[in-house]
Amino acid sequence: MSAFRTLDTLSDLSGKTALVRVDFNLPMDGGVITDDTRLKSALPTIRALSKKGARVALLAHFDRPKGKRVPSMSLQPIAGPLAALLGAPVAFANDCVGDVAVGAIAALPQGGVILLENVRFHAGEEANDPAFAAQLAALGDLYVNDAFSAAHRAHASTEGVAHLLPAYAGLAMQRELEALDAALGNPRRPVIGVVGGSKVSTKLDLLKNLVGKLDKLAIGGGMANTFLFAQGHDVGASLCEKDMADTARDIIAEAKARGCEILLPVDLVCATDIKDGAHAVVRGVDGVTGEDRIFDAGPKSVARLTTAFESASTVIWNGPLGVFEVPPFDAATVAVARHAAKLAKAGRIVAVAGGGDTVAALNVAGVAEDFTFVSTAGGAFLEWMEGKALPGVEALKID
Ligand code: 3PG
Repeated sequence: MSAFRTLDTLSDLSGKTALVRVDFNLPMDGGVITDDTRLKSALPTIRALSKKGARVALLAHFDRPKGKRVPSMSLQPIAGPLAALLGAPVAFANDCVGDVAVGAIAALPQGGVILLENVRFHAGEEANDPAFAAQLAALGDLYVNDAFSAAHRAHASTEGVAHLLPAYAGLAMQRELEALDAALGNPRRPVIGVVGGSKVSTKLDLLKNLVGKLDKLAIGGGMANTFLFAQGHDVGASLCEKDMADTARDIIAEAKARGCEILLPVDLVCATDIKDGAHAVVRGVDGVTGEDRIFDAGPKSVARLTTAFESASTVIWNGPLGVFEVPPFDAATVAVARHAAKLAKAGRIVAVAGGGDTVAALNVAGVAEDFTFVSTAGGAFLEWMEGKALPGVEALKID
């Protein structure tokens, strides 16, 4: 893994201001935070810097205001809940640069914490404007990026400012990078990938990258239908990107050439309608008929995958195997997730998962805690799995 400056190399920070990029782009419903995971994950870094005596100024974005001040996208409602979790006051400044920010930071006591207003209220943020990055840099003595989930954006607060101040990976960023390295960068082999989700077209780069890195790749969800169709199977009335059949065949050929075994479902759970408790039947891959719609992988597919896990050292997972939101079509995702979690908990495999739907699916299975690491990053996790360099991470590397 590349080298980063980390917080444990820092000593006394009294009199200094640490500018900390966090991701507080939280799911909200009517002004109420519905999932505070991202707030909680920022706490160790905030506490560590504050304990060393630094004033801690938090930079974050919320939603996509496109360079304008949009009151409904203010970060102000987040300061209170953050203070409650931190167990310490969190001040708020209604601008992230200029006199307002400078004055508010100067008024903080040693070790004090302030949340600065949405960086995306300034057009210079997303444009990664050097002048705006310089305004941000003028606020602090050092920069800490703790926002892996925003690291795929080359913005002023995630990338530009990192070149203008001594830059460090925060504790959550460090943990994320170490877990991802253990899962795909430098994994213990054999390593098995599980990729689900509805469409091949949205995960093309991901599949192409993974076949070059994994020993086995299990494909599930709607995208498996496209692969089955490409192999000449009837998929009935199921979701299927027929125009991607050639691409699917290319991926299978590439996997073979690179020594990666592709595991497609060997049986399927079908119904004619997607509704809770729908009448579901299990069919072999050659038994799908005209009206059938495939909504999940069947029990034999689950058994084959869990058996494959038994001889794996590492499992990396993105995307559900079926329509996990609607029982009984959650069965394959839940069974496979539970098995991976059991092995991870026993220390037999490293199990890493990420991506929006994946986290929700692991929560349905009740096993997110038992995975070695679950990334809450959406786009950043996918881009990283695609083998792309993340600008926010690259900017932290020591050359
Ligand atoms: C996220 O929530 O995935 C990150 O904060 C990135 O947000 P964005 O897609 O608006 O850049």
